[in-house]
Order: sequence, then C-alpha cells, then structure tokens
Amino acid sequence: MKTKFPGSLHAAESSQQNPVFPIEAVRAAFPALNRAPQFTFFDNAAGAQVPQVVLDAVNHHLLECNVQRGGRYRKSLEVDETVARARQSVAHLVNARSANEIAFGMNATSFIRLMSLAIGRTLGKRHHIVVTDMDHEANIATWLDLEKSGAEIVWWKVRGNGSLHVDDLIPLVSSSTRLVACTLTSNAIGSIVDVAGAAKIAHAHGAEVFLDGVHYGPHGLIDVQAFDCDYLACSGYKIFAPHMGFLWGRRESLERLPTFREDFIPDEPPGKIEAGTFIYENVAGMDAAVRYLESLGKSMADEDKGQAMENRRGALERAFKAIASYEEMLSLEMIAALRACDATIYGIADEKCLRERVPTLCFSLPNLSPSKVTEELAKREIGVRDGHMYSPRLMRRLGLLAENGAVRASLVHYNTLEEIHEFGSALAEIRKTG
Ligand SMILES: Cc1ncc(COP(=O)(O)O)c(C=O)c1O
Repeated sequence: MKTKFPGSLHAAESSQQNPVFPIEAVRAAFPALNRAPQFTFFDNAAGAQVPQVVLDAVNHHLLECNVQRGGRYRKSLEVDETVARARQSVAHLVNARSANEIAFGMNATSFIRLMSLAIGRTLGKRHHIVVTDMDHEANIATWLDLEKSGAEIVWWKVRGNGSLHVDDLIPLVSSSTRLVACTLTSNAIGSIVDVAGAAKIAHAHGAEVFLDGVHYGPHGLIDVQAFDCDYLACSGYKIFAPHMGFLWGRRESLERLPTFREDFIPDEPPGKIEAGTFIYENVAGMDAAVRYLESLGKSMADEDKGQAMENRRGALERAFKAIASYEEMLSLEMIAALRACDATIYGIADEKCLRERVPTLCFSLPNLSPSKVTEELAKREIGVRDGHMYSPRLMRRLGLLAENGAVRASLVHYNTLEEIHEFGSALAEIRKTG
C-alpha cells in the first residue's frame, strides 16, 4: 500500500525516499491507537503500545496454559514450548548465535544489576569500569555500586553536540579495563552510539562490552555479532511487547560469570541468569512482537524479486530498514516543528545527520518550564514527558537543571506526520498564550 502524507515541504521531500511505508496498516495493527478519544502518544521511550497479535498471544497464554513450566502434563509442556519459541524469536531479533544466549526476566535494570553483581565478583587486576554520562542511570548506578568492591570508574563523556565519540574512548581503556558499559542510543536525546567502534577499542585491550539496547530496540535492528559486544540488555515493553526484559550474553562470557542460582540449577545459560519465575504471558507477547515486526518486513518484500522467501532475520532486516527510513522523516518533521517554535533542541539537530539519531526529541521552549509545556500539551490530549528522563548527568552536561530537565517527545514507527503537525500547532499556541 502506498501512503501519501499531506503536509509540509519536508514531508514531501522525504516521502519520495520513503514511498511505501504502510503507515495505515501499521496503525490498524495497534488497537490502542484506534480508540476514542483521539490521543497523540509521543511518550514511547517510556514504553510502547502493543499490536493485536501481542494481545492475542497474552490472552491465549492466560486462557489456555496459565500453569508453571517443567511439569509432565500437556499445558505445562506448552509453556516450555512458548518459552523456547520466544527465545528463538528474540535470538533472531538480536542475531544471537544460539537461543540459549537469551535470558528472560522483569526488565533491563534488574538484568544490568544482575550482571554488575556477577562481573563485580571477577574484578582482580582488571578493575576499571568505563561508564558514560549519556546513559540512562540504570546503566550507570549499577556499575558505580561496584566501587564498594574495589572498582575504579572511568567516565566516557558526551560531547557538547550530544554525541559520544569513540575517539574519546581510546585514552580511557587499558589493560586494567574490565568492562565498557554504554548505551546504543540515548533515551533522553536520541543519539546513536558507534558501539562497534567502542567494542573494537575495548577488545583490543581484553575488556568486555555491555550494551544497553533499551532505547535502540524499537528503532533499529540489533545485531550483537556486528556490534561485537559481550552483553546486551533490552526492555520488551519498548519493543511493542508487554512489560518484560531480556538479556543476551555471549555464551562463553555467560558461562564464566559467577551468578546466584540454587544448587540444583545447572551452571549454564540461560538458567543461571534467570533466577525464579518470569512472566510467561509477557514472554509469549514478546514472541508475538518479534513476529509482528517480521510480518511488517514480509509485507514490504518485493515478491517479484523473490524477497518474500527470505528467512526470519531477513524479514526483520527489511522491517527495520523501512522503520529507520520512515523515522528519519519523522525526525526531520519534528525538528522543523520545534524550530518553528524557537525551541532549543538538545542533541543532534542537523538535518544532514539524522541517521545518527532516532526520533526522540528533547527540547525546551523559551520562557516556559518543561512541566508547563507538558501540562499544556496534556490538556490537548498529547502525551509527552518532562524531567531528567533518568539521565540526570546528561541533563547537567547539557546545562539543564536535573530537577527540571527538559521536554521529551519520543516517536516510533506508528506515529505520523499529521500528529507532528498537531503537536507543532499546539506548541505554537502554548508559546502564544504562555
Ligand atoms: C536507555 C534505557 N535504559 C534502561 C532503562 C530501564 O529499563 P527497564 O524499565 O526495563 O528497567 C530504560 C527505561 O526507560 C531506558 O530508556
């Protein structure tokens, strides 16, 4: 289906590069987007909506096999199958070498903490941990806590333009470095990090790399093999699944780590990093979310060229390629809308560099507090967020008060140019009336 967007010059220019993104079909797949009253949801960085197939999978699980796994009866065996299927799907999503490298749990923060506790027990002479001041605090505080066990924290600092530059990492890594912990993409300002470049530097010194993939997950195709990282944590609920988290780890690294487990749990992944029961229905939903993304990719294949025959990973690649290109257009339009209101945009705002960001826009308006702006937008049924976005260090680095922070509008592939135009008009009105 060809989708034509009415609107500004920017939109018209960009839609030529992106003529076939099936936005209507995408929105139709998400029931929450089609409910009255009309609501513009620009707070996706805090958790996205779920497609019908995810609702169906959760529902099916709760109705048909809401039992504990590991039993010998049919329903329990079905839960085992659901978990195995979801592991395989997430393995495709992140390009893991094996499904056993995927662990399920509550959220990204608890996985990062689990890893910091385990890695903290392996420090020895390699006791330097590199963290960044651009990350979500979940990928900072968890590592800072290791100072109590002798870790020395080394800061990789964001540049004034809102980017983490790998050249700045080079002097920070040495034979004392145990780990470089950084994000793939900032949840506050949307900058994408060259994590493959960071991994090259870290590995040259024998250090490992832990990536926070939470904010990148809904926007770009994760590829742990291309990134050459050692660990990666994600939140399913940002990638169109219900509330849950997952961790990928390089099998040899996970095997070596000392984690908490009961004696009868084998010392091997994924069991050794999945203490207790996780939420099976949400894991079933995660499986369905990956399948939703695949079906988006398949729907865009050019069957004349035999592309519909591609494998699951191929379909995901196609989906994310289309998502990235569509989202670039959203970023362009958001920047235009914000500029029209004299907003200060924090992070990458150069139209030529949109590939280095996702459509997560952090900004402030002259003479209006961030909370006033979000309150006024809320009155107009537009959901955005103000504050430090759990990145108070980044806020301070950008010259903002961590208590007030900024406004963040975070879009994903189901948002539209029309919504951006409404948002732009609302901002203009708020500026006028104060
Ligand atoms: C970049 C980033 N890292 C980590 C987290 C924490 O994720 P969770 O809520 O799954 O613990 C978030 C949550 O917003 C995030 O955006």
